[in-house]
Amino acid sequence: MVSSGLDGIVAATTRLSRVDGDRGELVIAGYAIEQLAEYATFEETTWLLWHGDLPSVAQLDTFAAQLAAERDISAATIRLLRDCADRQIEPMDALRIAAGTLSLMSDDAPGIVARLPTIVAGYWRLQRGLEPLAPRPDLRHAANFLYLLDGEPPNPERVKALETYLNTVVDHGLNASTFTARVITSTGDLVSAVVGALGALKGPLHGGAPGPALDMVFEIADASRAEAALRRKLAAGEKLMGFGHRVYKVRDPRADVLARAAQRLFTRAGDMSLYALARAVETQALRLLEEYKPGRKLQTNVEFYTALLLHGLGFDVPLFTPTFAVSRVSGWIAHAFEQRQANRIIRPESEYIGPIDRTWVPAVNRSSGDWLTADSGAR
Ligand SMILES: CC(C)(COP(=O)(O)OP(=O)(O)OC[C@H]1O[C@@H](n2cnc3c(N)ncnc32)[C@H](O)[C@@H]1OP(=O)(O)O)[C@@H](O)C(=O)NCCC(=O)NCCS
Repeated sequence: MVSSGLDGIVAATTRLSRVDGDRGELVIAGYAIEQLAEYATFEETTWLLWHGDLPSVAQLDTFAAQLAAERDISAATIRLLRDCADRQIEPMDALRIAAGTLSLMSDDAPGIVARLPTIVAGYWRLQRGLEPLAPRPDLRHAANFLYLLDGEPPNPERVKALETYLNTVVDHGLNASTFTARVITSTGDLVSAVVGALGALKGPLHGGAPGPALDMVFEIADASRAEAALRRKLAAGEKLMGFGHRVYKVRDPRADVLARAAQRLFTRAGDMSLYALARAVETQALRLLEEYKPGRKLQTNVEFYTALLLHGLGFDVPLFTPTFAVSRVSGWIAHAFEQRQANRIIRPESEYIGPIDRTWVPAVNRSSGDWLTADSGAR
C-alpha cells in the first residue's frame, strides 16, 4: 500500500526530539520545549542536540568561542551575495546558493552553524543597499545575529526573544527538511545535506508560512473584519496560513511558547494592538476551521506566532524563513550525525502504475497524438 506523503511511516529512530501530536507535546533530547525555550542559550541547545547532554561551563565556553571564531565568510561568498542582490534573488534562494560555498571554508559542523547568520544578515543588508558588517566575536550567537543585521548593540530583551525562537524551532522530528538532510547524509556530505534541507524548508507548506500568516493578519487589520475576511478565504478554498499540521492534532506547543515570548516583547514595547489583533484572528480562524473543515482537527501551528514574534523583533517578512534556517541548521546537523552513526542508504520503493507492454516505435513513425494523450498520464 502506498502512503502518500509517507503519512504514518516511521523511517528512523531518534534521540533528538519527540513530537506527540495527540497531546501537543514536544521534547528535545529529554527536555520539554517550554524549559529549553525559556532557559537555554542557542549554543547550549546546539550542544545538547549534538552531544546528547547539556554542556558543562567549560564545554559551553569552548563551544561558544569555537562558533564565534568561525563566523567570517569568504570573499567569494560575499561576491556571490552581491550578484544575488543585484538580481533581486529571493533571500532563501540566495541563502541556498551561498550555503553551497561553505565548502570553500572549513565545512565542519560548527563552521556551518556559525556562518549561516553571517550569510543571512549580510544578504539582508546588501538587498537594502547596505554593506555587510563584520561578525563580533565578543558576542554570543543570537546577539551577534542581531548585531549583524542592524549594527546596533544588541538589547538583552531582543536577544532573549530571538533565542527563545531559535531554541523553539531547532528540531521537530522527521519534518520535510530534516528528512531531506537525512536522505542526503545517507549518501553524501554535511554541506550538501544543509543545502538540500534549505531547498525543502523554503516552501510555503513548511518554513515559508509565517510571512503569509502575518500578511493575513495585516490584511484583516481590524478584529471586527476577521470573520468576514476568513470566511471569504475558506469559501474560496484557500488555506489559512499558520493553521493545521501533519502531526499535531491539538495546539502546537511551540505556538504557546512563541505567543508568550511575543506577548512579553509587545508588552515591553508598550503597544499591544497587533498582538490583540492576532489573538482575535486566531480565535475566529479556529472557530471557522471547525465549521468549514469539521473533524480535521486544524489548530494553530508554530508559524502563526513565529510571524508575530519576529515582527516584534523588528524583522521584516523576507527574513522570517532564513531566520528559521539559522535555527534549524543545528537540528539538521544533529540528524546528520545520528544518520551517520547507523547509516543505511534511505531508499524507499515506488509502485509502478504506468504501462508495461509497449513496443518501440521509431521517431519518424510516431504521431504526436500518442505522446500528448495516451502517454502523458504515465510520464
Ligand atoms: C501544514 C499542512 C501542510 C499539513 O498538511 P497535511 O497534513 O497534508 O493536511 P491536509 O493538507 O491533507 O489537510 C487535511 C484537510 O484540512 C484542510 N486544511 C489543512 N490545513 C488547512 C488550513 N491551514 N486552512 C484550511 N484548510 C486546511 C485541507 O484542505 C484538507 O481538507 P479536505 O479534507 O477537505 O481535503 C497544512 O495544514 C497547511 O497547508 N497549512 C497551512 C500552511 C502552514 O501553516 N504551514 C506551516 C506548517 S508548520
